[in-house]
Amino acid sequence: MEDRKSWEIRDEAILSDLVALMGLTDEEKQALAASKSHAEEIAPQLINAFYERLLSHDNTAEYFNGNGTVEHLRGTLENWFIQLFSGDYGTEYVNSRLTIGKTHVRIGLPVRYPLAMMDVLVQYGEKIANMNGNAEVTANAFRKLAALDIAIFNQAYENEQLDHLSEVVGNERLARRLLTK
Ligand code: HEM
Repeated sequence: MEDRKSWEIRDEAILSDLVALMGLTDEEKQALAASKSHAEEIAPQLINAFYERLLSHDNTAEYFNGNGTVEHLRGTLENWFIQLFSGDYGTEYVNSRLTIGKTHVRIGLPVRYPLAMMDVLVQYGEKIANMNGNAEVTANAFRKLAALDIAIFNQAYENEQLDHLSEVVGNERLARRLLTK
């Protein structure tokens, strides 16, 4: 198999790659920014639904055994959610999201869990879109941002795997070729 152009795209460069792929427009960014106050209003409900789901499933609940972990994380998840409505999706945005993804790699969390939890976020994103007078554009925009965040989360996991494999086999190109087998 030949090398692929997408293999050259690393770290924050994935943002412009994906934004171009999805065709995120200025109008859509503005629609999200216009919903920020609604996001702030709804965020506590979202956080409750999110942790209720994770804590009622043994395999995910066991990641929250430390004292005060959930209390602290409620705030970080709230910031993460409200940032979706910042309207500004640049390098800082993608890097902070990659770092959050990496935190989950570090705690040994299988990627299927964060990806599955996007379901809760999408549910609340839809509610927020319906709260303003521009529901269709806002809902489309939110779907794109949710897809972008799923991709970034997954990219953080893939980066770690590629980095480790590249270290073992000597270079990234060979690592990519091994992963296509
Ligand atoms: C949509 C999915 C998720 C989002 C957006 C999310 C968001 C976050 C954020 C923003 C942080 C703070 C990161 C930091 O301080 O650098 C965090 C940490 C954490 N998350 Fe998640 N999370 C998700 C899914 C999950 C799931 C499914 C679990 C467990 C089953 C989980 C367990 C944790 C734990 C234990 C930490 C603390 C890690 C540490 O600092 O030791 N998260 N998460």
